[in-house]
Amino acid sequence: MNKAVEADLAQLVEADRKHVWHHLTQHKPYENKDPLIIVKGDGMRVWNQAGKEHLDAVSGGVWTVNVGYGRESIANAVRDQLIELNYFAGSAGSIPGARFAERLIEKMPGMSRVYYSNSGSEANEKGYKIVRQIAHRHYGGKKHKILFRDRDYHGTTITALSSGGQNERKDQYGPFTPGFIEVPHCCEYRCQFDDASDYGVKAAQEIEKVILAEGPDTVGGIVLEPITAGGGVIVPPEGYWETVQAICKKYDVLLHIDEVVCGLGRTGTWFGYQHYDIKPDIVTMAKGVASGYAAIACTVTTEAVFDMFKDDADDPMSYFRDISTFGGCTSGPAAALENMRIIEDENLIDNCNDMSDYLMEKLRGLQNKYKVIGDVRGKGLFCGAELVADRQTKEPVPEAMVANIAADCMEQGVIIGRTNRSLTGFNNTICLSPALISTKDDIDEIVTSIDNAMSKHAVI
Ligand SMILES: Cc1ncc(COP(=O)(O)O)c(C=O)c1O
Repeated sequence: MNKAVEADLAQLVEADRKHVWHHLTQHKPYENKDPLIIVKGDGMRVWNQAGKEHLDAVSGGVWTVNVGYGRESIANAVRDQLIELNYFAGSAGSIPGARFAERLIEKMPGMSRVYYSNSGSEANEKGYKIVRQIAHRHYGGKKHKILFRDRDYHGTTITALSSGGQNERKDQYGPFTPGFIEVPHCCEYRCQFDDASDYGVKAAQEIEKVILAEGPDTVGGIVLEPITAGGGVIVPPEGYWETVQAICKKYDVLLHIDEVVCGLGRTGTWFGYQHYDIKPDIVTMAKGVASGYAAIACTVTTEAVFDMFKDDADDPMSYFRDISTFGGCTSGPAAALENMRIIEDENLIDNCNDMSDYLMEKLRGLQNKYKVIGDVRGKGLFCGAELVADRQTKEPVPEAMVANIAADCMEQGVIIGRTNRSLTGFNNTICLSPALISTKDDIDEIVTSIDNAMSKHAVI
């Protein structure tokens, strides 16, 4: 720990307690206990203000630090860039911005344009604005509706929440932006149909029903996570994505894939959608783009989408009239370039796939041991274990049980995730997304801590 920080520790905790409003946190307990302050990170590990070491199984709490902590080469790349040029508005280009866009597009065949901003919510809003502006320019404003899926999350601003399928993130923040329409989830474990055969195709066909009910001439886009993250790590079943793609084509609906969590290797491919045979029109990304070393988000489109914003240079309203002040920070693409180099040079996508197999095998081992684990699912180093009180009825366990398991792991020095304030009654999934540098020893430590915690708290 930095010496000045060490000396000042008590004051620091007091300053935090008095003045910092933590994200997604009820502060009442801090009247009697210290808030958690993370002061250092290295590799897979972080240290709190008391010097206690933790193995981080969720990459910065919210699946972000894909290449791990303490990467001096990223810090150096950012430092060098800041001295050269820290900022200029995104109406102009920058050297790292141009270089990163080129490198990124190499990983995304079929896509061609990168729009920079600074958070996943913002990147998604750009996608929505693109759909809306196309509706106004080409469809007389009619084709403006955007579909989103139950259980998905696309961000925290009011419009991003308007496209969110998690009621506990939305409650008390309405009224919402009009024109966002929900379609059903695709969680096979929670199958909505009497006959579960061909579930993926059936779940996708529900989207077609919504389009028909709304009127195909009113629906311009659909935003979907490739694998639902905070809604319970839901991997769409076979047939789902191909059917979604066909429906989008049939009704001229732009397919917007939200890769804010899945992007940059998390699921064992550069992007989650690349597990499937689909061609999105818009792809958004943020967290793993620079692994949290700088704030950067990207809205990536095909050339066909881009072209619609330059087809009439005489019309003063025809181009994309959007701006993001901090989308012009050069630290973002500078960090992202080095982050991508690390993923490539250290073969982290291969490691992600190898460690995924190991982690899934270990989680299935735990499932054999504990009846409370109803379902284990995931792709890459992005896994979930859904806890149920009864395997037959699939009744979710009380949320407090999941919280106790996570708290026990924390006590043992392992930070695990869980669905948190997402869906009433369904905040029952343990979530794991360790950095792509994970080793078998790290995974053993993570699974052992869950095993210990479950032996005490998962009693049903
Ligand atoms: C799938 C998904 N999309 C978008 C967001 C919003 O990103 P941000 O918090 O950077 O605005 C999140 C955040 O967790 C997310 O999980």
